[in-house]
Parts: sequence; C-alpha cells; structure tokens
Amino acid sequence: MSKSSQRSTDKRVITNRCSYRTYGKKTDNDKLTDKVFLRQVATRDKDELRVLDLFAGENLIWQNFDCARYFGVEQQKGKGKNLYADNRRVIPKLDLSDFNVIDVDSYGIPFVQIEQLFKNSTLQDGTVIVYTCIGNSLTTITNSCKRKFGITEMYKESPTLFNGFGTDYFHAMLYDYGVRKVTMYKRKTNEFNKEYGFFTV
Ligand SMILES: C[S@@+](CC[C@H](N)C(=O)[O-])C[C@H]1O[C@@H](n2cnc3c(N)ncnc32)[C@H](O)[C@@H]1O
Repeated sequence: MSKSSQRSTDKRVITNRCSYRTYGKKTDNDKLTDKVFLRQVATRDKDELRVLDLFAGENLIWQNFDCARYFGVEQQKGKGKNLYADNRRVIPKLDLSDFNVIDVDSYGIPFVQIEQLFKNSTLQDGTVIVYTCIGNSLTTITNSCKRKFGITEMYKESPTLFNGFGTDYFHAMLYDYGVRKVTMYKRKTNEFNKEYGFFTV
C-alpha cells in the first residue's frame, strides 16, 4: 500500500471512531450503535467507502462514516436524502460496479433483494454486503424463495410450518451463490428472531 493510501485509510478509521463515540453520546441508541459497529468491522479493510444503501431510511447509519460515495434508496417519500423508490424495482437496473459496500438493512428477510444483487452482472467481487434479517412464524416466505427450494405447493398446506425457517432459506440461497463465510450476530425478542451480518462477494 502506498503512503498516501495508508494515510487516507488511517484518516477514515479515525473519523469512524470519532463519529461512533459522538453518536453514542447524542442518542444512547444501543441497536443503532451495534449496527454502526458491525459496519465498522465489515469495512475495516476498505481504503474508501462507496456505499449503496438499499433500505436507507433517515440515513442514520452511514452518517457515522466518511464515505467517498453514498447513494440511498428509500420507498417512503421524503424520508432521508434518497432516491424514493421500491428497491426491488431499482436493483436490476443499477450499475453496481462503482459500489464496494451494499447495505441491505431490511425490516424482514431480504431474500429478493440479495438474489437481485447476485443476478445483476455489474456486482463486483470484493463487494461487502451487510444485511439485517428479521422474521418469525408469521413472516411469509417470498414466492421466489418458494420456487427456488421447491416448496410452493407444500407451503399452501401449512405456511407457518415453513415461515420459521426463513433465515435458513436465506442462508441456503447465499450458499447457492457461492458465499462460504458470513459474520453475524443474533438477537431474539419475544416477537422476532433478528440476525445482523455481512459477507464478501
Ligand atoms: C430498518 S429501516 C432502515 C434504517 C436506515 N438503515 C438508517 O440508517 O436510518 C428500513 C427502511 O427501509 C424502508 N423500506 C422497506 N422496504 C423497502 C423497499 N422495498 N424499498 C426501499 N425501502 C424500503 C423503510 O421505509 C425503512 O425506512
């Protein structure tokens, strides 16, 4: 690594640490702090951050980082500074080649979005994908997941039998696309099983 790129890496890491502390003082939001920390770990080897944020919300997470490029997609009009659209309509058309981090901070299980990313030929090797998976026995399995694993007919008979395995299907799909290492942590509440993780394409 050249001296100048070493310097810029150091600057980014220090900036991230400072922002992280500042954020903790301001809001005392444990879960957001954990999400920020996960992304610090996920991106620690990156010299610069070029981020596609597919569930961008109020852009809270990535405000804590010094990004060379940031592009947010959010379906709720007026929320954050974003392109306002359903990400499922956008992902197949996006040129992903300039992004080295893709954030999929979903409310549910982002099976469709991750499949769309893998099917987009502009996705680059080395891209880090950070995700959130939230589900329970009432979280329905997407049609594309049912088709992929041949459970469409059985699912009609007993949806709740399959719904609880949403994150297992999610991991089987990742395996199918060649992902062999996922770093993650889990959190269980009375209502939901939550999983937060990342992997490199
Ligand atoms: C968990 S929040 C994300 C918070 C965000 N990461 C932040 O830093 O503030 C999920 C967001 O995704 C949005 N969302 C849900 N489904 C979406 C979709 N299909 N396309 C785009 N945005 C979506 C929701 O409106 C919500 O703002």
